[in-house]
Amino acid sequence: MNFLELILKTRSYRRFDGQHQIERNTLEGLIELARCTPSAANMQPLKYILSCTPEWNQKIFFTLAWAGYLPDWPGPEEAEQPTGYIIILIDKSIRENSEIDVGIAAQTILLGATELGLGGCMLRSVNRKELRPLLDIPGHFIISLAIAIGKPVEKVVLGDVESGASIKYYRDSDQTHHVPKRKIGQLIYRIYS
Ligand SMILES: Cc1cc2nc3c(=O)[nH]c(=O)nc-3n(C[C@H](O)[C@H](O)[C@H](O)COP(=O)(O)O)c2cc1C
Repeated sequence: MNFLELILKTRSYRRFDGQHQIERNTLEGLIELARCTPSAANMQPLKYILSCTPEWNQKIFFTLAWAGYLPDWPGPEEAEQPTGYIIILIDKSIRENSEIDVGIAAQTILLGATELGLGGCMLRSVNRKELRPLLDIPGHFIISLAIAIGKPVEKVVLGDVESGASIKYYRDSDQTHHVPKRKIGQLIYRIYS
């Protein structure tokens, strides 16, 4: 897989093979990648909670909201739920304003998952009031992002979005998940060349 292929394959997946167990070592390997990423002032304030047991996965699952643009889809059915999770925390006692660090770490984790034949989804829609006591997360940690991990069983494809058209993702009758991306001409605001 070249770099472009890796990027293209690293999509947000929300349906997984529920039988495909994610090992603790796999999640730890993904954190090893995140450990090597840039961090503002090299403060490295991120902490991680890893889960790969059905019991804990199930508890975390119920605190997450899936695919807001698919209002008729309540999220993956039990057989297609993620088999691992990484919760990214910001340790406020080290540095509070660290959401850029989180983004860099999260995408690195997903790229690493793709390389392993896995996939996942970042989820910002987390019921933090429920998740904090559930996982006994102390107050000096911000619950920034959850990453669901598993072996994807869905097809996700990118499409071009015309100027002014909808950027909402959708599923077709084959249940292929389509993600419209703005064309490069809409992204580059100015070029000095
Ligand atoms: C910061 C961030 C938060 C997100 N939160 C959610 C979420 O709460 N629930 C969800 O289903 N997807 C979530 N996503 C996934 C986006 O919906 C997804 O990235 C977008 O639809 C584009 O699809 P793609 O990742 O395949 O390019 C989030 C993505 C990012 C970057």
